[in-house]
Amino acid sequence: MDSQVGLSDADLKDFHVSKHPLILHKLSILRDVNTEPKRFREVVDEITSLLCYEATADLPLSTIRIKTPLAEIDSQDIATRIGLVPILRSGMGMVHAMLNMIPSAQVWHIGLYRDHRTLQPVTYYNKLPDQATVDMCLVLDPMLATGGSAVATIDILKHWGARQIKFMGLIAAPEGVRTLRQAHPDVPVYVASLDSHLNEHGYIVPGLGDAGDRQYGTI
Ligand code: URA
Repeated sequence: MDSQVGLSDADLKDFHVSKHPLILHKLSILRDVNTEPKRFREVVDEITSLLCYEATADLPLSTIRIKTPLAEIDSQDIATRIGLVPILRSGMGMVHAMLNMIPSAQVWHIGLYRDHRTLQPVTYYNKLPDQATVDMCLVLDPMLATGGSAVATIDILKHWGARQIKFMGLIAAPEGVRTLRQAHPDVPVYVASLDSHLNEHGYIVPGLGDAGDRQYGTI
């Protein structure tokens, strides 16, 4: 999908849509209505690994001294304490791949639902300790739809004291990108696709349906 309709240069700054052929191929499997939950979960995991590679390409490194079997050398070590912040429930599907890549990461869950009356996100789960325990938070949510949950989560993390935050998702709608970029222009966004639009029920079109339902077989 190559729809950037209505997105300004400011919206598109630090907004990264992967062009990797493996990601594009795997997205077709996710979008396919006939893909069963088991395969769906596997492909979410695979795409997340590839997106992780892209989203962490600028992680700061520190120098450490190590011994190989042949010599002692200066080598590199990730200097940043990383927190993974999956937005419940569909963000959970991205955690396994991220932890595989960054085993030392902490996982802090945030639960939000949308109030049907006000359409505003309401927090129902947040066990963050008083002080921030990480330097960088990677917020995980497969679908950047209205952007409401992403903005609310990032509000919480900034209030917590997180200094650096990135958002990672699978599919974004222009409406969600605009809302997120306007509320948090300092937060880079990494997704596998920018789709056409949101429908009247808040679903991304063409999208893949409800990412939680498709992962957990609750359609
Ligand atoms: N959440 C989803 O799971 N899918 C959408 O299309 C929008 C929000």
